[in-house]
Amino acid sequence: MKEYLKHHEWQIIEEGLDPHYNKISESVFSIGNGHMGQRANFEEDYSGETLRGSYVAGVYYPDKTRVGWWKNGYPEYFAKVLNAPNWIGIRVTIDNQKLDLAKCKVEDFKRVLDMKVGLLSRSFAATLPDGKKVRVESKRFCSMAHGEIGAIRYAITPLNFSAKATLSIYVDADVVNKDSNYDEKFWEEVYKEAAEGKAIVTAQTKKTFFHVTTGMKYVILQDGKKASFDRVNVELREKYAGNVIQLDLHEGKELVIYKYAAILSSENHAKDKMVAACEQVLTEATTKGFDALLEAHSKVWAHKWDECDITIEGDIAAQQGIRFNIFQLTQTYTGDDERLNIGPKGFTGEKYGGSTYWDTEAYCLPFYLGTAEQNVARNLLVYRHKHLQRAIENAGKLGFNKGAALYPMVTMNGEECHNEWEITFEEIHRNGAIAFAIFDYIRYTGDEAYLAEFGLDVLIGISRFWSQRITWSSDKNKFVMLGVTGPNEYENNVNNNWYTNTIATWTLQYTIDSLEQVKKAQGERYTVITKANNFDEAETTRWKEIISKMHYPADEKRGVFLQQDGFLDKELLRVSDLKPEDRPINQKWSWDRILRSCFIKQADVLQGIFLFEERYDIETIRKNFDFYEPMTVHESSLSPCVHVILASRLGYKERAYEFYLRTSRLDLDDYNNDTEDGCHITSMAGTWMSVVKGFGGMTVKDGMLHFNPFTPDQWKSYSFRLEFRERVIKIKISKDSVETILESGSPLEICLHGKPVMLKR
Ligand code: BGC
Repeated sequence: MKEYLKHHEWQIIEEGLDPHYNKISESVFSIGNGHMGQRANFEEDYSGETLRGSYVAGVYYPDKTRVGWWKNGYPEYFAKVLNAPNWIGIRVTIDNQKLDLAKCKVEDFKRVLDMKVGLLSRSFAATLPDGKKVRVESKRFCSMAHGEIGAIRYAITPLNFSAKATLSIYVDADVVNKDSNYDEKFWEEVYKEAAEGKAIVTAQTKKTFFHVTTGMKYVILQDGKKASFDRVNVELREKYAGNVIQLDLHEGKELVIYKYAAILSSENHAKDKMVAACEQVLTEATTKGFDALLEAHSKVWAHKWDECDITIEGDIAAQQGIRFNIFQLTQTYTGDDERLNIGPKGFTGEKYGGSTYWDTEAYCLPFYLGTAEQNVARNLLVYRHKHLQRAIENAGKLGFNKGAALYPMVTMNGEECHNEWEITFEEIHRNGAIAFAIFDYIRYTGDEAYLAEFGLDVLIGISRFWSQRITWSSDKNKFVMLGVTGPNEYENNVNNNWYTNTIATWTLQYTIDSLEQVKKAQGERYTVITKANNFDEAETTRWKEIISKMHYPADEKRGVFLQQDGFLDKELLRVSDLKPEDRPINQKWSWDRILRSCFIKQADVLQGIFLFEERYDIETIRKNFDFYEPMTVHESSLSPCVHVILASRLGYKERAYEFYLRTSRLDLDDYNNDTEDGCHITSMAGTWMSVVKGFGGMTVKDGMLHFNPFTPDQWKSYSFRLEFRERVIKIKISKDSVETILESGSPLEICLHGKPVMLKR
């Protein structure tokens, strides 16, 4: 855990440049706008430790799979989000010395992410090797008002000299991915041009042929007036275009570079029109200018915060944590494009391929349901509907048939990309999360029409998969599920993972109920769906049999569900038995030792109890929590939030608060020692759930919102807003009162601490 960032309600602040923390800060201070994102890399060259990252939504490359031993069924490639052309570059050379913070004495370094307005600022004083000292202040943002514009204000003031300087302002598509499997470069040049004041490069991805056109224009002011240059040279190299400007720097006089970038993707433009479109965007950006662009951008942020801010009184670290999580989620996915999804690292790093995981359905969906218009969550479901055919093909590759669908563990376009056998073939519970998301969406929004429109197709495919994946055991006289990996990836190839068995039979029942519901309400549509899916009602006979005869491992003596058949054969230790030097075990222990241990990476049985809470009485929840939590190392970022929610139900207030801090400040304090690879974007939605579903005790039962809130001792009060069925409600909770306000929409009955309350305006 590293606590080098200052606590502040609205800002993330780093003071002093510690090169060891630079990659962590590059992740934490990332900015984006749902269409693109940018790590907090320096504009000027930096020869120290850095992970360069500019990302354009939906643009990926199928990197050929690399494994030691090929297994049939592995995907041929891993689709990776690409490090896209660099639009931020401004190279500064003063008297032939490059401004490079790894080679200068750096003072007063400060990096600030102002989350209220979505602005990244950086300032420092640097002394060059020959003693010349400059002050630099930079600001930049990815416009939320115009998804294709990025803007930078970069100001240089010579503090103790006047001298000749060279500025290279450029766009560069000659970039690499750190996670490239074969050290291959993924971009090829299609077009480039440069003239005084501007440069444009179009690059295309190999194999997938996405085009990205990146253009820039700039304006330079000196002492408030248009700067005069000695010379401007146009610079064109392979995949690179820029201007090299020679000018004089005058002691004490500020030189300001405004750099405007346009980043366009062929996902949104015809390839042959992209350069012209880029010119237009650049004209728009330069005409408006930095301040007006920033104002429009800030207005969008103000509106977003109105919708989804959570305020916490009396605990700045907690307040900063939740805002940071909401900020990152909001700039990762705006929900206006159903082709896009939410990668575990969003736009903050390459890890996990930037692609879609079960995280979206299991963790992110509730956040977007609660904080955005219905359509945003709906788009996330439609995304999976679009991939149904691919999920059927994916199941086919593993030997399933007759329309059985296995959604991928990792995907960009619906095809499986993951290639660790114990996950690709065995972590099949992901299918259940996709079915559960349909239920969760309808339960929350009341949009029953979704079932007939898209939902049933997906449910049928998934249920068919479960039906084929489950085996009859004559020994147990029960149905069993062999060779799986549950959410706890620290056990592989186990039999009867309780969570997977539970979500499988739940899906079968939900599909049966949904089929009946659509048949009753929309007979004609039912016929169309069943015909299109080649569905025969007789299929449900086996589904019903599986539901009634499924094996769920349990330990009657302890009153707990068992994570899998063999769990009790393990030596049942507690995390508190581990020595500090053993942790995190995934970095310190051999995989063999981890697999044989009882230690749990993330909520597994508890994940199931969280999803199906209404099935269990409080004593059952308590026994399972008390049994599993002490063995859980939380080495997945997705783990603590589930524990906040269950600990809240059980009245374990202190534990709930500890887990809350862990999830909300996971990246700010680098709890898991891996933030340098990127932020844990999908688990951030879990942080939101921790407040709303955990402390706020929010559930939806029979179409009604229920709240059972409490206030952690460390807080005076907290408040959140929820979008719910065309209403916006605000809940403010303090130690001795709960205020419920209907901000918009028609009257709504909710349930507070078990009692009905009518909300009216
Ligand atoms: C977790 C998975 C998760 C993935 C991406 C892994 O560490 O165990 O549950 O889907 O990260 O966030």
